[in-house]
Amino acid sequence: MIYYVDGFAGPGIYTKDNTVGSPVLAAKHAQELARTSAQYTLQCINVELDGCVFQNLEGSTKEYSDYVTNRHGDFGQFVTEILGMIGDKPTLFFLDPIGLKGLEWQALSPIFNRDAKTELLIRFDAQTARRLTGNDSSLHGTFNAILGEDSSNYWMEYLARCPQGAQANRECLTTAYEDKLIKHFPYVGRIPILSSDDSLKYYLLYATKSLKGMQVMNDVCFATQGLRDRTIDAERKEASVAHQMSFFDLSPEDEILQELEALKLAVLTELEKVDSTVRDELRGLVATRGESFGRFSGSQFTAVLGGRPRGLSVPKEFENLKGQLQIHNDLTLGNDKVEISLIR
Ligand SMILES: C[S@@+](CC[C@H](N)C(=O)[O-])C[C@H]1O[C@@H](n2cnc3c(N)ncnc32)[C@H](O)[C@@H]1O
Repeated sequence: MIYYVDGFAGPGIYTKDNTVGSPVLAAKHAQELARTSAQYTLQCINVELDGCVFQNLEGSTKEYSDYVTNRHGDFGQFVTEILGMIGDKPTLFFLDPIGLKGLEWQALSPIFNRDAKTELLIRFDAQTARRLTGNDSSLHGTFNAILGEDSSNYWMEYLARCPQGAQANRECLTTAYEDKLIKHFPYVGRIPILSSDDSLKYYLLYATKSLKGMQVMNDVCFATQGLRDRTIDAERKEASVAHQMSFFDLSPEDEILQELEALKLAVLTELEKVDSTVRDELRGLVATRGESFGRFSGSQFTAVLGGRPRGLSVPKEFENLKGQLQIHNDLTLGNDKVEISLIR
């Protein structure tokens, strides 16, 4: 059995427009999974603080009661009980508060310290972080509690090294939080969630101890990004807002080339650090670097390594890494288990 814990669940279905929220999406998935021949089942545990919203959550998850447990109250108060319920089963925690309230480090640390397989998706509201670390020093303690720090020195050092500007500020504060998470989860990926005008709404942070997890979530984010772009294009079309070509817009071919060159550089950087690695670990390592999370697909990887990518037309001028790589086992380059090192 595996678990999904939704610490800040919301109503399940939003009455305003019937949008389906995370607890119902997860419950549906648990039900569908139970109808397959999968070797494992999924159980969902949701927590919601607001009384009215909790009533809605109960209603919207009623038909999935075999797979769902709901609790009413502050997530932090339920951590011990939930850890007892899930035991040593693999668990994904989705922590999606409004602002940063509810993410106090002390309340969450038993989750971070779990030995069993644990993955996190945390909404990190970098704009709130900025507000809490601004001129009003009475708010600094609130951010210190989120980070589990006794003083403000920790994040002030990040800000002291940070370039000027609001977005740089948001990024540096997010890095400060990620660097705390990395002590428990060696791999952390940052997914910017953008508004339709491309401004940053918040970051979704993914934390895991597994490179395979990193690679799988990278692919999910890559696919979701495509979905978002298609949605925005459709919205623009509907509103008849032409997307004006500017001098700075690249042709699709140049765009592919630019991405492949960026990935090639990232792959070389990671390969230089290790004696040899398997392909999916290499993908996980690249995903872990700075802005790379969710940026590159499996097909782009295959192209960079010199294999034949499915569904991607590689510009002729692209020079792949085939000549610089040694393949250690008898697998094709598209295979996740293929072992690779750099010819030095
Ligand atoms: C952003 S919404 C969650 C949205 C949800 N993930 C979805 O997909 O629909 C955050 C929810 O957390 C609830 N909440 C706020 N503080 C909480 C706390 N300390 N413990 C549990 N729930 C909390 C709020 O009432 C709100 O319904």
